[in-house]
Order: sequence, then C-alpha cells, then structure tokens
Amino acid sequence: MAVTEQEVSFDRSELIITKTDLQGKITYANRTFMRVANYAEAALLGQDHNLIRHPSMPRGVFYGLWHALKSGDEFFGFVKNYTSDKNYYWVFANITPDRIGDDVVGFYSVRRVAPKGAVQTIEGIYQKMRELEQTTERKQAPEVSWKWMVDFVRQQHQMGYEEYIIDLYQKHRSD
Ligand SMILES: Cc1cc2nc3c(=O)[nH]c(=O)nc-3n(C[C@H](O)[C@H](O)[C@H](O)COP(=O)(O)O)c2cc1C
Repeated sequence: MAVTEQEVSFDRSELIITKTDLQGKITYANRTFMRVANYAEAALLGQDHNLIRHPSMPRGVFYGLWHALKSGDEFFGFVKNYTSDKNYYWVFANITPDRIGDDVVGFYSVRRVAPKGAVQTIEGIYQKMRELEQTTERKQAPEVSWKWMVDFVRQQHQMGYEEYIIDLYQKHRSD
C-alpha cells in the first residue's frame, strides 16, 4: 500500500543543529533535530548524514555542498529531509567547516525552517536539476546539474548562487 508522506515542521524560533566528522558522519545532534527527525541520539551518532536524505533531493545540491566545504567555504541551501518514519521537512541550511586553529576537524550545520514561498521556487529548480540528472551520464550528473543551476540563477537573476539563495530566504522569511 502506498504511504503518503506528511510534511512536519518546527517553530521559526528553533534551530536544527548537527555536527559531523570530515566524512559526514554525525558526531552531535541537538534536541530539536532529534524531535523533528524523530531519532534517538544513539541511532544518530556515528551514522552517515545521508541517513535523512530525501530521494527527491537532486544529487547536484550535495555536489555543491561538498565542493564548497572541501574548498574551505561555507554553504547555504534549501534541503528536504526525511524523518525516521518517512515524513519530510524543509530547512534552510548553513553548513560550515568546524575549525580548531587552522585545521578543519569536521563540519556543522545550522538549519532554520524554510519559508513556504522559497520552497515553492526551489522545488521548480530542483525538479529541473533532477530531470537533467536523469538524462546525463551518472558519474557526471551531479556536477552537470549543479553547474546548470548556477548558470540558470546567473542568467535569470544576475546573481551568484549564494546571494540568490540567501535573498530567496530573506524575501520569504516573514510569509
Ligand atoms: C554538516 C553536514 C550536514 C549535512 N546535513 C544534511 C542534511 O540535513 N540532509 C542531507 O540529505 N544531507 C546532509 N548532508 C550531506 C550528506 O553528508 C550527504 O552528502 C547527502 O545526504 C547525499 O548523500 P549521498 O552522498 O550518499 O548521496 C550534510 C553534510 C554535512 C557535512
């Protein structure tokens, strides 16, 4: 029997926070994450962060995320995640290298609830990325769809990806 996924949400004042090691294995999760994603702490620590990956997320977004982190940069993006019971929630995420002195020892992510209007816009873009990924050779697909998005944003809005995505969040944050 097909099960319909339900959207779950959290308060605007709340932050969902996790930390990972350099490989993306979860080393810390705050209480809000555990409540929204519906996991006990013991089920999270040591797990790959793709544990909560939603299948509708384009692979290109994670290409952009890891490319930024490996270059020592931070990343902003809208992400749809699965809860443990296969419901979903949308976040606006900021992911940054976690540094001790000059060394990057892991990464952390701080997420706010994604405004509905912003999700509507980004879903259209993600849909195009997924379509492109399906018609592109598998190994190249994430990089190709990521670059398509960056070019699309540049052409449509005369802005870089990061500026566009922060602007999209700001524009809708009081929806
Ligand atoms: C600090 C940090 C937080 C992350 N948060 C998420 C997240 O909330 N959801 C998600 O799907 N991937 C997240 N990722 C990316 C995952 O590590 C992974 O690249 C992604 O789920 C795609 O999985 P795959 O590479 O196995 O296809 C995060 C990575 C880091 C470093």
